[in-house]
Amino acid sequence: MSCTRKTLHDHPFNLWKFLLSPTIKAIDVFSLTIKSTLALCSVASISLILYFAFSNYSHFPQPHINTVTNFNQNGSVSIEGREQTNISHILFGIGGSAKSWNKRRHYSQLWWKPKVTRGFVWLDKKPSSNMTWPETVPPYKVSQDTSRFKYSCWYGSRSAVRIARIVKESFELGLPNVRWFVMGDDDTVFFTDNLVSVLAKYDHNQMYYIGGNSESVEQDVTHSYTMAYGGGGFAISYPLAAELVKILDGCINRYDKFYGSDERIQACLSEIGVPVTKELGFHQLDIRRSPYGLLAAHPVAPLVSLHHLDYLESIFPNLTRIDSVKKLVSGYELDPGRILQHSFCYDLNRNWSVSVSWGYTVRLYPFLVTAKKLETAVETFRTWRSWDAGPFTFNTQPVSSDMCERPVVFMLDRVESVGGGKTLTGYKRYSTGKEEKDCPKYNYTSALAVQFFNVSAPKFNPDLWNKAPRRQCCEIINGTDGADNVVHVQIRGCKRFESVSPQ
Ligand SMILES: *[C@@H]1O[C@H](CO)[C@@H](O)[C@H](O)[C@H]1NC(C)=O
Ligand SMILES: *[C@@H]1O[C@H](CO)[C@@H](O)[C@H](O)[C@H]1NC(C)=O
Ligand SMILES: *[C@@H]1O[C@H](CO)[C@@H](O)[C@H](O)[C@H]1NC(C)=O
Ligand SMILES: *[C@@H]1O[C@H](CO)[C@@H](O)[C@H](O)[C@H]1NC(C)=O
Ligand SMILES: *[C@@H]1O[C@H](CO)[C@@H](O)[C@H](O)[C@H]1NC(C)=O
Ligand SMILES: *[C@@H]1O[C@H](CO)[C@@H](O)[C@H](O)[C@H]1NC(C)=O
Ligand SMILES: *[C@@H]1O[C@H](CO)[C@@H](O)[C@H](O)[C@H]1NC(C)=O
Ligand SMILES: *[C@@H]1O[C@H](CO)[C@@H](O)[C@H](O)[C@H]1NC(C)=O
Repeated sequence: MSCTRKTLHDHPFNLWKFLLSPTIKAIDVFSLTIKSTLALCSVASISLILYFAFSNYSHFPQPHINTVTNFNQNGSVSIEGREQTNISHILFGIGGSAKSWNKRRHYSQLWWKPKVTRGFVWLDKKPSSNMTWPETVPPYKVSQDTSRFKYSCWYGSRSAVRIARIVKESFELGLPNVRWFVMGDDDTVFFTDNLVSVLAKYDHNQMYYIGGNSESVEQDVTHSYTMAYGGGGFAISYPLAAELVKILDGCINRYDKFYGSDERIQACLSEIGVPVTKELGFHQLDIRRSPYGLLAAHPVAPLVSLHHLDYLESIFPNLTRIDSVKKLVSGYELDPGRILQHSFCYDLNRNWSVSVSWGYTVRLYPFLVTAKKLETAVETFRTWRSWDAGPFTFNTQPVSSDMCERPVVFMLDRVESVGGGKTLTGYKRYSTGKEEKDCPKYNYTSALAVQFFNVSAPKFNPDLWNKAPRRQCCEIINGTDGADNVVHVQIRGCKRFESVSPQ
């Protein structure tokens, strides 16, 4: 929706040529001052400069000092604040449209829990009466009319205004016990237990704006590094929402040239002076092709959201996009905190290196690989707009052109709870059928004989997310069944002074 950033390929015009064209320079005398800025519609300075030039400043919001004091310094509020934040304290506001809802609803259905999650999908108009509205999707509300607002980004859609106002319309519902307003798109998949773990770290009585950037540097340069991208979802604490809704409508008109709803929200928060607090588990997924490399190298942070899945190859090779997400969710439901968490171990008898991305994939290298290399994402993906090999906002490494440097790959096959607070996940060899032929010189024979990984792990204690982050350790253990086509791995917290160092 709003956060489907247009690509140059999508558009008949060339944005760069357009920006540099003499017509634009003649129209906008200020463009000289922003020569190095990349996208016309994202340039805050233009509308601000115009604003300063043509207004008498009277539209600027008055300070609301009392509001802040009330939220921060009332004894009763902070006592209530000591009660752990849970899912009931979140009000979701999903940006949707009557037209796209039937195509997108299956994404909301993956995470929406009737009678548990609270919130609404906000539509541009009442859906046709033959559309069913089961409990398994968020109930809908129809957004207020926004035709009175300015919107002048030539390559965007004015639905950005409507979607930016969802936080205000949600706030004005006046629902009880809301600590956080969480915004997302109709193609955002939330991992709500982890979202709660993340939000519970923060004092909801203070003014917080929490989310993540785009993965593609070109997007952050064009739109903003300082905003939480709307498709990855973001959270605004109640007291911040209370300030934001007071200025939002006026503010939306000040930033009419911006592209997206999320940029409008950030610009208005910038007037309040509250920066984004970045959390690494929100994933806008502004990437193309396969997200495998990115997901398999998830940072040590809970997985909060995934987005843009319709624009990516499915995350499991043999499944449809939606079945792939269901498979990932099956692991998440078994152990929410551990999903995608990385662990590395070596089998020094066989010189094997094993990288487990829990609930998703295992990679087996029949040689020793450093932790530094194992933790770095492999470029199975491209940037969002230009489909380039980078740059991204995190380090990547190319897929090795030498077949003999590539790992043997296993994908999640099954999950089970085995009692004692433990889980067993099974990973099945994913074969292109060409490995042996493609790497004749290296001895992959014993590694290629492995068909399964069985990984046991204790359930992840979400309280660990309140501690200093540390990747967990694992060890390769020999099975009792004597089968040499199954490798057993046990994940556990690391011991003191333990490190992943090949001897
Ligand atoms: C909040 O603080 C005000 C003044 O600081 C106090 O009068 C009021 O009783 C407090 N609210 C509650 C519910 O205790
Ligand atoms: C969430 O916390 C509130 C207290 O703030 C409590 O009343 C409620 O039962 C909790 N809900 C869940 C689902 O844990
Ligand atoms: C609902 O009715 C509209 C026409 O009013 C039709 O185009 C659409 O396919 C119908 N949808 C369903 C789910 O039956
Ligand atoms: C493992 O690697 C070390 C050093 O790289 C080598 O000395 C040793 O022979 C290897 N062992 C096996 C089983 O290949
Ligand atoms: C994927 O499908 C192919 C062909 O249907 C099959 O040979 C292969 O075993 C499947 N891979 C997995 C991991 O299930
Ligand atoms: C390669 O594999 C063969 C058969 O599996 C084994 O006999 C040989 O020792 C291996 N060579 C190395 C260098 O590991
Ligand atoms: C590994 O997983 C398979 C599939 O569930 C199971 O049959 C087997 O018993 C497991 N092996 C061990 C040693 O747990
Ligand atoms: C596991 O089995 C291998 C042979 O398959 C053996 O060399 C190794 O010592 C065993 N390791 C443990 C920890 O039992």
